[in-house]
Amino acid sequence: MNAVQSISRGALTSWRSQSNAHRVLRLFLGITWIYAGWDKATDPGFLTKGAPTYIGNQLAAFAQNSPIAFLLNHTTERAVLVGTVVMISEFAIGFATLLAVAPATAAFAGFAMATGLWLSSSFHITPYFLASDSAYAILWLAYLLLMIGNRKMPAINIQRRGVIRTGIIGVLAVAASFAGKALPKSSAASSTNSSKKGAGKQIIKVADLPVGATFKFVHSSLGMPSILFRTKTGVFAYSAICTHQGCVVDYNSTAKKLVCPCHGAQFDPFSNAKAVAGPAVTPLPKLKVAISGVWVVEA
Ligand code: FES
Repeated sequence: MNAVQSISRGALTSWRSQSNAHRVLRLFLGITWIYAGWDKATDPGFLTKGAPTYIGNQLAAFAQNSPIAFLLNHTTERAVLVGTVVMISEFAIGFATLLAVAPATAAFAGFAMATGLWLSSSFHITPYFLASDSAYAILWLAYLLLMIGNRKMPAINIQRRGVIRTGIIGVLAVAASFAGKALPKSSAASSTNSSKKGAGKQIIKVADLPVGATFKFVHSSLGMPSILFRTKTGVFAYSAICTHQGCVVDYNSTAKKLVCPCHGAQFDPFSNAKAVAGPAVTPLPKLKVAISGVWVVEA
């Protein structure tokens, strides 16, 4: 029997032998993880620096409120690699779960990924039950414990056939990623929606931002950490994502520069955020803001 036949037969047997509760959990988690991978694979901006949905922006935004910010700040330097690994892993976990290839390992990886997402992106959400990542972590854990309880499914089969079956899942995951790239979502529709969503969003009350002060915020439609300045002449803002490798810059009021903690790039906020020191050569992107009544708003 070849490896493909072995996978099909194993998958059929596993579906037949499971309880309905187990099947429901397995189907939902497997499909959801494949869908999550597909959503990233078909997003033309996910691995593209400067795009609104760029993974580096998301990681930098997560780091603003995450208890594992110290880790996320390092991942922003390798955002494309991190995004690629996450996307392929989501496909692999989903396929492995549906096809019963190393299912306990796939369930543990799903649990670890959902926990990581919860700590990264939704840890600050209260009450906690509004954060779906924590629910996914519990679903994966319950699914894993069900399998351990049944003791029918091995974690990883390191025999030759097991390695081949796992390799086939890896090939499927990479192929699905390429298929998604070949069938991109319409970016025009999503960017139109996002710009409408962010128009006029209030950032801070003018009274709370005295002349000479700065204010850090996350841009509502771009989802990127940003920094707002108020001077005698008005307000202006820049993306806080370093144009070198994507770390988050901060304002140093003594040097009057936006300084990147990763490799020391400096940007002059009073001269269109041009790069003035360190490895970065591109200015920080300027963001449109305005004063509207008593508020500073995204324009
Ligand atoms: S990421 Fe390298 S200097 Fe900012």
